[in-house]
Amino acid sequence: MFPPRPTEMLHLLLKGEIAPGDFAIDATAGNGHDTVFLAQAVGETGKVLAIDVQPQAISSTAARLENEGLRDRVTLHLGCHADLAKIAGDGRPGVIVFNLGYLPGGDRAVITRTENTLKALTSAVAILRPGGLLAAICYPGHAGGDVEAAAVENLLASIPTHRSARYAIIATEKPAPFLLLTRKNS
Ligand SMILES: C[S@@+](CC[C@H](N)C(=O)[O-])C[C@H]1O[C@@H](n2cnc3c(N)ncnc32)[C@H](O)[C@@H]1O
Repeated sequence: MFPPRPTEMLHLLLKGEIAPGDFAIDATAGNGHDTVFLAQAVGETGKVLAIDVQPQAISSTAARLENEGLRDRVTLHLGCHADLAKIAGDGRPGVIVFNLGYLPGGDRAVITRTENTLKALTSAVAILRPGGLLAAICYPGHAGGDVEAAAVENLLASIPTHRSARYAIIATEKPAPFLLLTRKNS
């Protein structure tokens, strides 16, 4: 689709950013589309950590990875991304992806929450390796999503040493999802 949706744009932009052997984190595994993309991009020698609070998301992601022959490159973690620093341990990822909101096809009451999201993003900025890239897709169209989206944008905008950007489709009926990108200074 042109112009690409934020999720498509994210993958297009990340293609040039991830090298074989890299370590990447998917902080919201969901149905595994982003995790599969990251696992392909890091190659056979790379590693991905994918996190989600819902068992349904972890099993959906595992099934998608199995199907693609990528399961051995990915550590799946059932838990809250607010604990990102603890979950990642000594790992210093080059890319961290957040795709916020609810699980498509799942329980729409389980959404990412501003407080956890901000904690997770703060940890993500801290553990990202110098020159690394952090991406967040925000969904201002559902209840609470607007507050979360604004808080995420404010947080990223408050890091003056980072180079950050925003991408969205314009002139939509409902508030459109948007992609935020920030690069940690090296
Ligand atoms: C829009 S979906 C992610 C889509 C996914 N990246 C994909 O490619 O299919 C958002 C996900 O965030 C998860 N989530 C919500 N709160 C979370 C939290 N505190 N920690 C980790 N994941 C969370 C939801 O369970 C849901 O699966």
